[in-house]
Amino acid sequence: MKNIKLLSLLLLTAMSTCVFAQRKKETPVYKDRTKPIEKRIDDLLSRMTLEEKVMQLNQFTLGRNDNANNMADPVNDIPAEIGSLIYFSSNPELRNHLQKKAMEKSRLGIPILFGYDVIHGYRTVYPISLGQACSWNPSLVEQACAVAAQEARMSGVDWTFSPMIDVARDGRWGRVSEGYGEDPYVNAVFGVASIKGYQGNDLSGSKNVAACLKHYIGYGTSEGGRDYMYTEISNQTLWDTYMLPYEMGVKAGAATLMSCFNDISGTPGTANHYILTEILKERWQHDGFVVSDWGAIQQLRAQGVAKDRKEAALKAFTAGVEMDMMNQCYNNHLGELVKEGKVSEDLLNDAVKRVLRVKYRLGLFENPYTPYTKEEERFLLPQSLKIAEQLAEESVVLLKNDNNTLPLGNISKIAVVGPMAKSSWHLLGSWRAQGKSEDAVTLFAGLENEFRNKAQLSFAQGCDFDGDDRSGFDEAIDISKDADIILVCLGEKAQWSGENASRSTLSYPQIQEDLVTELSKTGKPILLLLSSGRPLELTRLEKLSQAMLQVWQPGIAGGNPIAGIISGRLNPSGKLSITFPYATGQIPIYYNHRQSARPHQGKYQDIPSTPLYGFAHGLSYTTFQYGDIRSSATKVKRDGKLTMEISVTNTGNRDGAETVHWFISDPVSTISRPVKELKHFEKQMIRKGETKTFSFKIDLLQDLGFIDSNGKRFLESGEYYIMVKDKKVMVEVED
Ligand code: NOJ
Repeated sequence: MKNIKLLSLLLLTAMSTCVFAQRKKETPVYKDRTKPIEKRIDDLLSRMTLEEKVMQLNQFTLGRNDNANNMADPVNDIPAEIGSLIYFSSNPELRNHLQKKAMEKSRLGIPILFGYDVIHGYRTVYPISLGQACSWNPSLVEQACAVAAQEARMSGVDWTFSPMIDVARDGRWGRVSEGYGEDPYVNAVFGVASIKGYQGNDLSGSKNVAACLKHYIGYGTSEGGRDYMYTEISNQTLWDTYMLPYEMGVKAGAATLMSCFNDISGTPGTANHYILTEILKERWQHDGFVVSDWGAIQQLRAQGVAKDRKEAALKAFTAGVEMDMMNQCYNNHLGELVKEGKVSEDLLNDAVKRVLRVKYRLGLFENPYTPYTKEEERFLLPQSLKIAEQLAEESVVLLKNDNNTLPLGNISKIAVVGPMAKSSWHLLGSWRAQGKSEDAVTLFAGLENEFRNKAQLSFAQGCDFDGDDRSGFDEAIDISKDADIILVCLGEKAQWSGENASRSTLSYPQIQEDLVTELSKTGKPILLLLSSGRPLELTRLEKLSQAMLQVWQPGIAGGNPIAGIISGRLNPSGKLSITFPYATGQIPIYYNHRQSARPHQGKYQDIPSTPLYGFAHGLSYTTFQYGDIRSSATKVKRDGKLTMEISVTNTGNRDGAETVHWFISDPVSTISRPVKELKHFEKQMIRKGETKTFSFKIDLLQDLGFIDSNGKRFLESGEYYIMVKDKKVMVEVED
């Protein structure tokens, strides 16, 4: 009996040693790529300590940082357990070095998520977003974002803090350049296009990055156009003006969102439970995570809703911000808050799961390192430059063209003047990521390429961007006297736009306007090339010039296509995504304002009340004739179908692309609605003499209905107007 007992004991020990050895060899579920992501997350979470969980929710920085508003951390101080880093370098080696630390030195080997501001291109910098929207070509924007994603991911970036989809109607705000303009629908459509471009069909693809919708929400309406200021937004406006781009972006699968700096009607976005949890997570079922903006959690103190950093952490976290960007508030206080029972473990676990989910979806557990490639294998590839050129071309808006001054045709002598002509740095705009000015084709270089052996170019800068040095005026006037046309390249410096870059007056500095005034005295025709990050007041310049091209900050590849438009090799097709005011004092001025109580009154006494150039304005070298709108029905039941069509004929003598904008208006409703609302647009190439049909398939609830102050859509019976330019049809929705 004794022997049997001993034998069984030996057998049991042998067996358990065997099982143990086998287990040791077995891959844990969280590392097993064959297991579903949610199972892997649960397994990993079950192994994590409180400290490890908290560290996943922090973001520090890595690498050199040029942005004066942000500073970088020393590499050696970065803990192996850190959740995320902002990666300022374009060298995969530094990333891999830190990633190795995370994979090998941390207990569980959780990969770090590397994020970066890839806003309008990474190394191949394309036009600023405000300009991109003037192309009315979302599929081109999608392609450009795919290029940016490829360059970024191959350089060690997994996640971009883009797109910015903040509806912005105040050009004084420097960040107006980073979004898609004044209209909610346009921001939504281009936001979705960029998400598709960045994320592709599969986030784990080696050329895709996770997108981040920002800044959730209302940041674009900062008071006085001053950055970081208070925003007063009623719930009605929140829903009908600001939410749509976010709602569509979330539906399109955006992996993450960034909370905003602004204080929305008394509750800062970063502490706003309603928008971050009730809407985003509960109603829209977003299962990725929200990162705070840089320092936004600790700023809750400055905004007067938290007495210290601990309370700030509590408010942001319980509102629904999962990751702390550069605040050290979660790092220092979240664990303590959980231990004290002020933050529930469930909430902590949910937050960690969200971060891990994005990491799993990016395939970081399988492929934590960035394969080494030479710069020439990832940057400035011929097809990438082609996309950047096309986007720059389609972003250009021909604002004015008296007596067909453009295209230049057979002109023989061109005087090129102005501070922007030979500048490459300022062409790139703000948030240029790894863009380099030496990659850029300047406006002058583009003109030289275009007019080589065709026309003689002379150059004199005339003046700087600002200041009051007029000593260069004489030379500019001299070369202009001898020319057939004066091409004046005016511009805003890149740093006048972007974060913390507000301006009080929407005009070119006096010195630039004075230069044009003096040049106009030569009596020679003047063509203005206008490069800015915002809509500017062009009222005085418009009177001094025969033609004006708004080229925005076109990125590195704008020089050649812009020159191509000037020569006539290319036909401009851009239209404004934002209203150009007659005067700064008109702000806020945008097309989709609500009707006033006395539409015929309330005008300015000293200036017109209309803008200089309205939303969707833009000329072509050809002419388009619009037919009447054809409606599939004049009456429709609320569950019925409705389609509109319009024919557009190219009546000029060259091919051209035209964008048709479909607006609706609802003259009588329960709420007062905007005078008109863009609901659909389409761009098509129309050959000379050809007629193309444009159509708009109406979703009655979405397109004709309105949204209330809690995001519920209603469709009321009654009359609605569908409009294209000056064409209009009325449709009746019946019960
Ligand atoms: C602050 C900016 O507001 C935000 O847009 C940006 O993504 C972060 N800094 C990170 O650079």
